[in-house]
Amino acid sequence: MLKGDVLLSNFIANQSVHERFGGVVPELASRAHQQNIIPVVDQALKSAGVQVGDIGAVAFTRGPGLMGSLLVGVSFAKSFAMARGIPMVEVNHMQAHILAHFIRKPGENYPAPEFPFLCLTVSGGHTQLVLVKSPLEMEIIGETLDDAAGEAFDKSAKLLGLPYPGGPQVDQHAALGDASRFTFPHPQIPEYNFSFSGLKTSILYFLQKEQKKDADFIEKNIHDICAGIQWTIIEILLKKFKKAAREFKVKDIAIAGGVSANKGLRNAITRMGEENNWRVHIPPFEYCTDNAAMIAMAGSFKFAEGIFADQQIAPLARMPF
Ligand code: KG4
Ligand code: ZN
Repeated sequence: MLKGDVLLSNFIANQSVHERFGGVVPELASRAHQQNIIPVVDQALKSAGVQVGDIGAVAFTRGPGLMGSLLVGVSFAKSFAMARGIPMVEVNHMQAHILAHFIRKPGENYPAPEFPFLCLTVSGGHTQLVLVKSPLEMEIIGETLDDAAGEAFDKSAKLLGLPYPGGPQVDQHAALGDASRFTFPHPQIPEYNFSFSGLKTSILYFLQKEQKKDADFIEKNIHDICAGIQWTIIEILLKKFKKAAREFKVKDIAIAGGVSANKGLRNAITRMGEENNWRVHIPPFEYCTDNAAMIAMAGSFKFAEGIFADQQIAPLARMPF
């Protein structure tokens, strides 16, 4: 729930149902959305101290994402908007991750990125370098050609026998490890694009080789293995980020998306900013992984411009900027 650009409430219904399957099961995700959506909206209203009749517009994610889950949100937004006679605003999930940098709670006033800025958006489904010219004008200048950075974390974690989602697990182990003990090759990809599928394969072969010599290799070295994997992912990301920030001569750089919660990445980008005289913007943890506040924030920029969606709108699993 947002009033202007001030956040009144932000609730997430966690979907622990996926844990035992080692990944998100789309059918279960949409069912959980259907069950959770009314209670979560109710909770957000109560916590914000807002009456249903006070709501001026409803923002919703049109895409990209899992179709079943998007359908639940889009249908809810349409019904809500129609019942209340209020406008609705469609939001692009990846743009919302970036615009999370503008969310402020009452009394908060730390500096927001200045336009144009360069944002590295890293999540479970996407890895993009985005030149952000204004809240409504963004250009993807590079992206992954295969796996996303979050997928690289999750798939590596799976190879190590760690539970889903693996990103936060790798992060925790890596904090206790030595990143220089095990190193993995970097891909040679042109321009500002990324690739992570080769990393997964090299980790798999590395583990198979080491486990032949010592069956307990993973258990004994989990911290150092995670530190090595995490450092490789961060280096792949930041090498392109640095090149792009120099090329586009931006003064502000930012990270967004689920993987921006990674402590190693947060530290590394802070250092990169200090070394190059760039102002670094790192979202608070609560706005890194998927959340409603970022959708409301992105919606409020369009609302201010009078850009609304109509009742015919349909979700898009893949959605361009
Ligand atoms: O943005 P997000 O919540 O959902 C998508 O839109 O995909 O991102 C989820 C991804 C998962 O791959 C998860 O493992 C990763 O973000 N993630 C992390 C961390 N926290 C979440 N990866 C590395 N370190 C973390 N601390
Ligand atoms: Zn996301």
